[in-house]
Amino acid sequence: MQSISASLKKEGKTIGLVPTMGFLHHGHLSLVKESKSKTDVTVVSIFVNPTQFGPNEDFSAYPRDTEHDCKMLEAEGVDYVIIPSEDSIYTEGAQTYVNVTQLGKKLEGEFRPIHFQGVATVVTILFNIVRPDMAFFGQKDAQQATLLTRMEKDLHLGISINICNIMRESDGLAMSSRNIYLSETERKDALVLHNSLLKAQELIMAGTRDTDAIIAAMKGLYGAVKSSNLDYIKLVDDKTLDDAAMLELGKAYFILIACKIGKTRLIDNLHIRFKTDNTIEFK
Ligand code: PAJ
Repeated sequence: MQSISASLKKEGKTIGLVPTMGFLHHGHLSLVKESKSKTDVTVVSIFVNPTQFGPNEDFSAYPRDTEHDCKMLEAEGVDYVIIPSEDSIYTEGAQTYVNVTQLGKKLEGEFRPIHFQGVATVVTILFNIVRPDMAFFGQKDAQQATLLTRMEKDLHLGISINICNIMRESDGLAMSSRNIYLSETERKDALVLHNSLLKAQELIMAGTRDTDAIIAAMKGLYGAVKSSNLDYIKLVDDKTLDDAAMLELGKAYFILIACKIGKTRLIDNLHIRFKTDNTIEFK
């Protein structure tokens, strides 16, 4: 891949990378489409990265269907798919990790202590293998996107990091490879995440700026959903991911949710930008 990439660059072609763990859905494909529209050559990596899963997480159960993934990517007109083995990513005796120290500890980091070290390390390795000009990530994993944007800057990688919109099912559930774990009733219950974000949007549109009031109203919706068990709802600055007390003009925020529905842990979020012309953008 490194030598393919070098010769593509000699031809003056730009390269876009879409890192994934496979079991692809339309969320992943939206990143592919974005890459294809912005670069000459699109590379997709499929690698279920063991170092970002905790000891009690779903690494071995994580859904895999490489054959189907490749068919989907071929239909999208992807140029290269790389499916590396574990020992080609992590060489024998590997001991070098990338840590985004503060962003990696918060929120998801509190529940998944080694997760972001694994993500930052594998993405750096993939960047070094593919040498892309641009890389594409989803806002679905907002903390991951924020942290990787920070990492690119901190390490002067010279790669343009593009964050793409959250793709949802028609009823609002954010697409995720893990949705397959949900039973029929849990699938319905899982709508509480998106519904609580809509509730927040409604309150903000009506003028609420006190974040405690917004979060309390959101949490109120989870009581009626027996299978739900909230890990957190936080309203944070969109770059530092520090808690925000009041929403202010000219600033941008994320509302971040992590919630178990039965045994399945789901995340979702809403990006809110208070523009200086007094309009509010929700994404
Ligand atoms: P994975 O969960 O497979 O996701 C790959 C990319 O697809 C991520 O950037 C993720 O944010 C994006 N994505 C997932 N669901 C989406 C949706 N509903 N709408 C838009 N984009 C969506 O995230 C990972 O893999 C891994 O941590 C990885 C970055 C590959 C490192 O191992």
